[in-house]
Amino acid sequence: MCALLAFYVEAGVDAVLDEAPVDRLTAWAQEPTSSRVSAQGPPSSPGPPQARAVLGRANVANVNSGPRPSPFTSPARGENDADTPPAPDAAIMSARQAAASAASLDLLRAIIERFEGCALRFTAKQLVFADGNPRARVMFVGEAPGRDEDIAGRAFVGRSGQLLDRMMAAIGLDRTAAYIANVVPWRPPGNRTPTPQETQICLPFIKRQIELADPDILVCLGGPSAAALLGLTGGIRRLRGRWCAYHTGTREIRAIATFHPAYLLRTPLEKRFAWRDFQAIKTALAQ
Ligand code: URA
Repeated sequence: MCALLAFYVEAGVDAVLDEAPVDRLTAWAQEPTSSRVSAQGPPSSPGPPQARAVLGRANVANVNSGPRPSPFTSPARGENDADTPPAPDAAIMSARQAAASAASLDLLRAIIERFEGCALRFTAKQLVFADGNPRARVMFVGEAPGRDEDIAGRAFVGRSGQLLDRMMAAIGLDRTAAYIANVVPWRPPGNRTPTPQETQICLPFIKRQIELADPDILVCLGGPSAAALLGLTGGIRRLRGRWCAYHTGTREIRAIATFHPAYLLRTPLEKRFAWRDFQAIKTALAQ
């Protein structure tokens, strides 16, 4: 038994979702088609995550019980009302509206705490909103929290966070002089990569967080963060170290992408390039 549990942990299966195993494939096949209705669903049905976003907290307790559509797929178009947007679009729109309504970082945090349009919030232990000083001149943004962050509720507190601390210290920064967040604020199960859909749903929140924190310099840690925020695609080794403009919504600031500390832990030879990027950040902060 211990060996099996150790194997699960090693494989990233470290979150308990239910008391008993559920064969969702069988349950799905047996469920009558008529009960797999639109994204809005009947009020008593747990439904897919975007429906829960509309239905609200009362359904959270039902999330892990009984057969339901996969939280990572949307219903086929034909199953929706003609005027109802497909599920992920509804969640993205609802995230945009919610984010835009936040007048401060505290309000934004409270809004995200209540947001139920992203399935990750149901498997994560808690929201990982940020860490550091929201009034800092530099903001670092990673991809998504890992296990340690999920437990602590703070961004970059695990091994990669400790490396980030050392990299910041090399240019005279610590967490009182930097603000740190993630594109996706909930830990994906087993530390898997967030799906494009999850990233799109969470994007309005991190964009608003950047706008409200209003740093002078934005640092994207890793390719996924650079792709989501700066639209840079094509491999972080090619993209890193180049300054570009980022529009916060109220002004244009300088942005740069560099390696994610987790990647540097696996590939220490690349640290020399990260060193250059951090020197460039130091120079930019001095200007
Ligand atoms: N990796 C990230 O991208 N973010 C964290 O907060 C921790 C690890």
